[in-house]
Amino acid sequence: MAATLLRYLAGIAGGCCAGTVLAGAPGQNALRAAGIQAEHIGWLWNLTLGLCALVFAAVVGAFLLALWRAPKDGAGRPPDLASLTRPERGIHRAVAWATGTCVVLLLLLLGADVVTSRALANLPLRNAVDIELIGHQWWWEARYRHADTSRNFTTANELHIPVGRPVVITLASNDVIHSLWIPNLQGKRDLIPGRTTLLRLRADRAGVYRGQCAEFCGLQHALMALEVTAEPDAAYEAWAGHQRQPAPPPDSDTARRGQQVFLGGACMMCHTIQGTSAQGRLGPDLTHLAGRRTLAAGTLPNNRGYLSGWIADPHALKEGVNMPANQLPPDDLHALVSYLETLK
Ligand code: CUA
Repeated sequence: MAATLLRYLAGIAGGCCAGTVLAGAPGQNALRAAGIQAEHIGWLWNLTLGLCALVFAAVVGAFLLALWRAPKDGAGRPPDLASLTRPERGIHRAVAWATGTCVVLLLLLLGADVVTSRALANLPLRNAVDIELIGHQWWWEARYRHADTSRNFTTANELHIPVGRPVVITLASNDVIHSLWIPNLQGKRDLIPGRTTLLRLRADRAGVYRGQCAEFCGLQHALMALEVTAEPDAAYEAWAGHQRQPAPPPDSDTARRGQQVFLGGACMMCHTIQGTSAQGRLGPDLTHLAGRRTLAAGTLPNNRGYLSGWIADPHALKEGVNMPANQLPPDDLHALVSYLETLK
Protein backbone atom coordinates (compact mmCIF):
# COMPACT_ATOMS: atom_id res chain seq x y z
CA MET A 1 0.00 0.00 0.00
CA ALA A 2 2.73 2.45 1.04
CA ALA A 3 4.84 1.44 -1.96
CA THR A 4 1.88 1.99 -4.29
CA LEU A 5 1.25 5.42 -2.77
CA LEU A 6 4.91 6.34 -3.17
CA ARG A 7 4.90 5.21 -6.78
CA TYR A 8 1.75 7.25 -7.36
CA LEU A 9 3.31 10.35 -5.79
CA ALA A 10 6.47 9.80 -7.82
CA GLY A 11 4.29 9.62 -10.91
CA ILE A 12 2.65 12.93 -10.05
CA ALA A 13 5.98 14.57 -9.33
CA GLY A 14 7.73 13.17 -12.33
CA GLY A 15 5.40 12.28 -15.09
CA CYS A 16 2.42 14.58 -15.13
CA CYS A 17 3.29 15.95 -18.54
CA ALA A 18 4.73 12.89 -20.20
CA GLY A 19 3.37 12.09 -23.62
CA THR A 20 3.95 8.71 -25.15
CA VAL A 21 6.71 6.82 -23.42
CA LEU A 22 8.94 4.88 -25.75
CA ALA A 23 10.04 1.41 -24.81
CA GLY A 24 13.36 1.72 -23.03
CA ALA A 25 12.90 5.47 -22.69
CA PRO A 26 14.58 7.08 -19.70
CA GLY A 27 12.36 8.06 -16.82
CA GLN A 28 11.72 11.52 -15.50
CA ASN A 29 11.44 11.65 -11.75
CA ALA A 30 11.77 14.70 -9.54
CA LEU A 31 12.22 12.43 -6.50
CA ARG A 32 15.33 10.75 -7.94
CA ALA A 33 17.80 13.60 -7.88
CA ALA A 34 20.78 13.11 -10.17
CA GLY A 35 22.28 16.52 -9.59
CA ILE A 36 22.84 19.07 -6.87
CA GLN A 37 20.03 21.39 -8.06
CA ALA A 38 17.43 18.63 -8.05
CA GLU A 39 18.68 17.62 -4.59
CA HIS A 40 17.95 21.10 -3.25
CA ILE A 41 14.47 21.01 -4.78
CA GLY A 42 13.92 17.47 -3.45
CA TRP A 43 14.85 18.67 0.04
CA LEU A 44 12.26 21.47 -0.19
CA TRP A 45 9.65 19.01 -1.48
CA ASN A 46 10.31 16.56 1.39
CA LEU A 47 10.10 19.34 3.97
CA THR A 48 6.85 20.67 2.46
CA LEU A 49 5.37 17.16 2.24
CA GLY A 50 6.36 16.40 5.86
CA LEU A 51 4.93 19.63 7.28
CA CYS A 52 1.73 19.38 5.24
CA ALA A 53 1.31 15.75 6.33
CA LEU A 54 1.64 16.83 9.98
CA VAL A 55 -0.92 19.61 9.51
CA PHE A 56 -3.27 17.21 7.74
CA ALA A 57 -2.93 14.67 10.57
CA ALA A 58 -3.58 17.43 13.15
CA VAL A 59 -6.71 18.64 11.31
CA VAL A 60 -8.08 15.10 10.94
CA GLY A 61 -7.28 14.46 14.62
CA ALA A 62 -9.15 17.61 15.67
CA PHE A 63 -12.09 16.61 13.48
CA LEU A 64 -12.26 13.11 15.02
CA LEU A 65 -12.01 14.61 18.51
CA ALA A 66 -14.93 16.93 17.72
CA LEU A 67 -17.00 13.98 16.49
CA TRP A 68 -16.20 12.01 19.61
CA ARG A 69 -17.19 14.90 21.86
CA ALA A 70 -20.34 15.80 19.91
CA PRO A 71 -23.73 15.45 21.66
CA LYS A 72 -25.02 11.89 21.20
CA ASP A 73 -28.57 10.64 21.09
CA GLY A 74 -29.97 7.20 21.69
CA ALA A 75 -33.13 5.27 20.85
CA GLY A 76 -35.97 7.21 22.44
CA ARG A 77 -33.56 9.63 24.10
CA PRO A 78 -33.04 13.09 22.56
CA PRO A 79 -29.45 14.34 22.40
CA ASP A 80 -28.25 16.58 25.17
CA LEU A 81 -27.78 19.90 23.37
CA ALA A 82 -26.88 21.82 26.49
CA SER A 83 -23.20 21.53 25.64
CA LEU A 84 -23.77 23.65 22.51
CA THR A 85 -24.68 26.67 24.57
CA ARG A 86 -22.14 26.08 27.37
CA PRO A 87 -19.06 28.23 26.91
CA GLU A 88 -16.10 25.99 25.95
CA ARG A 89 -13.11 26.16 28.18
CA GLY A 90 -9.82 27.15 26.61
CA ILE A 91 -11.26 27.80 23.12
CA HIS A 92 -9.49 31.10 22.72
CA ARG A 93 -6.19 29.62 23.78
CA ALA A 94 -6.60 26.71 21.32
CA VAL A 95 -7.38 29.07 18.41
CA ALA A 96 -4.43 31.29 19.31
CA TRP A 97 -2.12 28.25 19.44
CA ALA A 98 -3.36 26.94 16.09
CA THR A 99 -3.01 30.37 14.43
CA GLY A 100 0.47 30.86 15.89
CA THR A 101 1.55 27.39 14.75
CA CYS A 102 0.26 28.04 11.21
CA VAL A 103 2.13 31.35 11.01
CA VAL A 104 5.35 29.72 12.24
CA LEU A 105 5.02 26.83 9.77
CA LEU A 106 4.32 29.20 6.85
CA LEU A 107 7.32 31.34 7.80
CA LEU A 108 9.41 28.16 8.01
CA LEU A 109 8.33 27.18 4.47
CA LEU A 110 9.03 30.71 3.23
CA GLY A 111 12.51 30.57 4.77
CA ALA A 112 13.17 27.12 3.26
CA ASP A 113 12.03 28.42 -0.13
CA VAL A 114 14.41 31.39 0.06
CA VAL A 115 17.30 29.13 1.15
CA THR A 116 16.57 26.74 -1.75
CA SER A 117 16.37 29.58 -4.29
CA ARG A 118 19.71 30.93 -3.10
CA ALA A 119 21.27 27.48 -3.26
CA LEU A 120 19.96 27.03 -6.82
CA ALA A 121 21.47 30.37 -7.86
CA ASN A 122 24.83 29.68 -6.22
CA LEU A 123 26.09 26.87 -8.43
CA PRO A 124 29.80 27.49 -9.16
CA LEU A 125 30.14 27.99 -12.91
CA ARG A 126 33.85 27.50 -13.52
CA ASN A 127 34.60 25.51 -16.68
CA ALA A 128 30.87 25.42 -17.52
CA VAL A 129 29.45 23.89 -20.68
CA ASP A 130 27.60 26.60 -22.63
CA ILE A 131 24.47 25.54 -24.49
CA GLU A 132 21.86 27.67 -26.20
CA LEU A 133 18.58 25.79 -26.27
CA ILE A 134 15.85 27.08 -28.54
CA GLY A 135 12.27 25.92 -28.30
CA HIS A 136 10.33 25.35 -31.52
CA GLN A 137 6.85 23.96 -32.06
CA TRP A 138 7.54 21.09 -31.18
CA TRP A 139 11.21 20.29 -30.88
CA TRP A 140 14.42 21.49 -29.26
CA GLU A 141 17.39 23.02 -31.06
CA ALA A 142 20.61 22.76 -29.07
CA ARG A 143 23.59 24.94 -30.01
CA TYR A 144 26.77 24.10 -28.13
CA ARG A 145 28.87 27.23 -27.86
CA HIS A 146 32.58 27.58 -27.22
CA ALA A 147 34.94 30.52 -26.77
CA ASP A 148 36.59 29.25 -29.94
CA THR A 149 33.60 29.50 -32.29
CA SER A 150 35.09 26.96 -34.68
CA ARG A 151 34.23 24.41 -31.98
CA ASN A 152 30.50 25.30 -32.00
CA PHE A 153 28.04 22.70 -33.18
CA THR A 154 24.29 22.19 -33.32
CA THR A 155 22.12 19.20 -32.58
CA ALA A 156 18.45 18.60 -31.80
CA ASN A 157 16.23 16.98 -29.18
CA GLU A 158 19.08 15.61 -27.11
CA LEU A 159 21.76 16.97 -24.86
CA HIS A 160 24.96 15.35 -23.69
CA ILE A 161 26.53 16.83 -20.58
CA PRO A 162 29.60 15.88 -18.56
CA VAL A 163 29.04 14.58 -15.01
CA GLY A 164 30.36 16.90 -12.32
CA ARG A 165 30.72 19.95 -14.59
CA PRO A 166 28.26 22.83 -14.46
CA VAL A 167 26.10 23.49 -17.50
CA VAL A 168 24.66 26.89 -18.35
CA ILE A 169 21.69 26.63 -20.69
CA THR A 170 20.57 29.86 -22.33
CA LEU A 171 16.92 29.42 -23.18
CA ALA A 172 15.15 31.14 -26.06
CA SER A 173 12.03 30.50 -28.09
CA ASN A 174 11.39 30.73 -31.78
CA ASP A 175 7.60 30.98 -31.59
CA VAL A 176 5.53 30.63 -28.40
CA ILE A 177 6.31 30.16 -24.71
CA HIS A 178 7.78 26.76 -23.90
CA SER A 179 9.23 25.54 -20.61
CA LEU A 180 12.17 23.23 -20.05
CA TRP A 181 11.83 20.69 -17.26
CA ILE A 182 14.36 17.93 -16.60
CA PRO A 183 12.98 16.73 -13.25
CA ASN A 184 15.99 14.59 -12.27
CA LEU A 185 18.32 17.56 -12.71
CA GLN A 186 16.58 20.89 -12.18
CA GLY A 187 13.29 22.74 -11.83
CA LYS A 188 11.37 24.35 -14.67
CA ARG A 189 12.41 27.44 -16.59
CA ASP A 190 10.38 29.12 -19.32
CA LEU A 191 11.55 29.82 -22.87
CA ILE A 192 10.05 33.17 -23.80
CA PRO A 193 10.00 34.69 -27.30
CA GLY A 194 12.04 37.87 -27.53
CA ARG A 195 14.14 37.32 -24.43
CA THR A 196 16.58 34.85 -22.99
CA THR A 197 16.54 33.09 -19.63
CA LEU A 198 19.27 31.06 -17.97
CA LEU A 199 19.11 27.62 -16.43
CA ARG A 200 22.10 26.31 -14.50
CA LEU A 201 22.45 22.67 -13.61
CA ARG A 202 24.98 20.01 -12.81
CA ALA A 203 24.56 16.26 -13.12
CA ASP A 204 26.35 14.34 -10.38
CA ARG A 205 25.23 10.88 -11.44
CA ALA A 206 25.71 9.45 -14.93
CA GLY A 207 22.54 8.37 -16.69
CA VAL A 208 19.95 9.29 -19.28
CA TYR A 209 17.25 11.65 -18.07
CA ARG A 210 14.09 12.73 -19.80
CA GLY A 211 13.20 16.35 -20.18
CA GLN A 212 9.79 17.60 -21.20
CA CYS A 213 8.24 20.84 -22.33
CA ALA A 214 6.20 21.92 -19.32
CA GLU A 215 4.22 24.84 -20.74
CA PHE A 216 1.29 24.22 -23.06
CA CYS A 217 2.58 25.31 -26.46
CA GLY A 218 0.10 23.94 -28.94
CA LEU A 219 -1.25 20.72 -30.34
CA GLN A 220 1.85 18.59 -29.82
CA HIS A 221 3.02 20.06 -26.52
CA ALA A 222 3.03 16.61 -24.91
CA LEU A 223 5.30 15.27 -27.67
CA MET A 224 8.07 17.79 -27.08
CA ALA A 225 10.61 15.77 -25.15
CA LEU A 226 14.34 15.99 -24.73
CA GLU A 227 16.85 13.32 -23.72
CA VAL A 228 19.75 14.34 -21.53
CA THR A 229 22.72 11.98 -21.36
CA ALA A 230 25.03 12.70 -18.44
CA GLU A 231 28.33 10.91 -18.93
CA PRO A 232 31.95 11.05 -17.74
CA ASP A 233 33.94 13.99 -19.05
CA ALA A 234 36.00 11.89 -21.50
CA ALA A 235 32.87 10.33 -23.03
CA TYR A 236 31.26 13.77 -23.31
CA GLU A 237 34.32 15.26 -25.01
CA ALA A 238 34.41 12.31 -27.43
CA TRP A 239 30.73 12.84 -28.25
CA ALA A 240 31.22 16.61 -28.69
CA GLY A 241 34.29 16.02 -30.87
CA HIS A 242 32.25 13.71 -33.07
CA GLN A 243 29.38 16.21 -33.31
CA ARG A 244 31.83 18.83 -34.60
CA GLN A 245 32.77 16.60 -37.52
CA PRO A 246 30.90 17.10 -40.79
CA ALA A 247 28.77 14.23 -42.04
CA PRO A 248 30.76 11.43 -43.67
CA PRO A 249 30.40 11.24 -47.48
CA PRO A 250 27.96 8.52 -48.62
CA ASP A 251 29.72 5.17 -48.97
CA SER A 252 27.43 3.27 -51.35
CA ASP A 253 25.56 3.88 -54.59
CA THR A 254 22.23 3.79 -52.76
CA ALA A 255 23.42 6.32 -50.19
CA ARG A 256 24.88 8.54 -52.91
CA ARG A 257 21.55 8.51 -54.68
CA GLY A 258 19.84 9.27 -51.36
CA GLN A 259 22.09 12.27 -50.89
CA GLN A 260 21.07 13.51 -54.35
CA VAL A 261 17.41 13.11 -53.37
CA PHE A 262 18.09 15.10 -50.20
CA LEU A 263 20.01 17.89 -51.91
CA GLY A 264 17.83 17.99 -55.00
CA GLY A 265 14.48 18.07 -53.21
CA ALA A 266 12.74 20.02 -50.50
CA CYS A 267 14.74 18.54 -47.56
CA MET A 268 17.68 20.92 -47.84
CA MET A 269 15.40 23.97 -47.67
CA CYS A 270 14.80 23.30 -43.97
CA HIS A 271 17.60 21.04 -42.75
CA THR A 272 21.36 21.34 -42.38
CA ILE A 273 23.81 18.54 -42.99
CA GLN A 274 27.32 19.84 -42.31
CA GLY A 275 29.72 18.90 -45.07
CA THR A 276 27.05 19.31 -47.76
CA SER A 277 25.32 22.27 -49.36
CA ALA A 278 22.25 21.70 -47.17
CA GLN A 279 22.21 24.62 -44.70
CA GLY A 280 18.48 25.10 -43.98
CA ARG A 281 17.68 26.36 -40.50
CA LEU A 282 13.94 25.79 -40.15
CA GLY A 283 14.11 22.16 -39.03
CA PRO A 284 16.52 20.12 -36.90
CA ASP A 285 20.19 19.83 -37.91
CA LEU A 286 20.56 16.32 -39.34
CA THR A 287 24.38 16.08 -39.50
CA HIS A 288 24.43 13.22 -36.97
CA LEU A 289 20.78 12.17 -37.13
CA ALA A 290 21.51 8.43 -37.09
CA GLY A 291 23.30 8.77 -33.75
CA ARG A 292 20.11 9.89 -32.02
CA ARG A 293 17.85 7.48 -30.18
CA THR A 294 14.54 9.06 -31.12
CA LEU A 295 12.82 10.99 -33.89
CA ALA A 296 10.49 13.99 -33.66
CA ALA A 297 11.52 15.12 -30.14
CA GLY A 298 11.15 11.82 -28.33
CA THR A 299 8.02 10.80 -30.23
CA LEU A 300 9.30 7.78 -32.17
CA PRO A 301 12.16 5.29 -32.03
CA ASN A 302 14.83 6.18 -34.58
CA ASN A 303 14.68 3.20 -36.91
CA ARG A 304 14.25 2.67 -40.62
CA GLY A 305 10.52 2.06 -40.52
CA TYR A 306 9.59 5.11 -38.51
CA LEU A 307 12.09 7.29 -40.36
CA SER A 308 10.50 6.33 -43.69
CA GLY A 309 7.02 6.90 -42.32
CA TRP A 310 8.07 10.23 -40.84
CA ILE A 311 9.46 11.50 -44.15
CA ALA A 312 6.46 10.28 -46.15
CA ASP A 313 3.72 11.54 -43.81
CA PRO A 314 4.84 13.22 -40.59
CA HIS A 315 1.31 14.44 -39.86
CA ALA A 316 0.08 10.89 -39.46
CA LEU A 317 2.60 10.46 -36.62
CA LYS A 318 2.58 13.95 -35.09
CA GLU A 319 -0.33 15.98 -36.37
CA GLY A 320 0.27 19.67 -36.98
CA VAL A 321 4.08 19.64 -37.33
CA ASN A 322 5.64 22.11 -39.75
CA MET A 323 7.36 19.43 -41.80
CA PRO A 324 5.41 18.75 -45.00
CA ALA A 325 4.61 15.28 -46.31
CA ASN A 326 7.01 14.06 -49.00
CA GLN A 327 5.42 11.76 -51.55
CA LEU A 328 8.61 10.32 -52.98
CA PRO A 329 8.81 7.36 -55.39
CA PRO A 330 9.57 4.22 -53.32
CA ASP A 331 13.11 3.87 -54.70
CA ASP A 332 13.93 7.49 -53.82
CA LEU A 333 12.54 7.10 -50.30
CA HIS A 334 14.54 3.90 -49.82
CA ALA A 335 17.72 5.64 -51.04
CA LEU A 336 17.06 8.73 -48.93
CA VAL A 337 16.58 6.70 -45.75
CA SER A 338 19.72 4.67 -46.56
CA TYR A 339 21.64 7.94 -46.82
CA LEU A 340 20.20 9.34 -43.58
CA GLU A 341 21.19 6.11 -41.83
CA THR A 342 24.84 6.83 -42.67
CA LEU A 343 24.70 10.11 -40.70
CA LYS A 344 26.07 8.53 -37.54
CU1 CUA B 1 6.74 23.39 -26.01
CU2 CUA B 1 4.94 22.71 -24.58
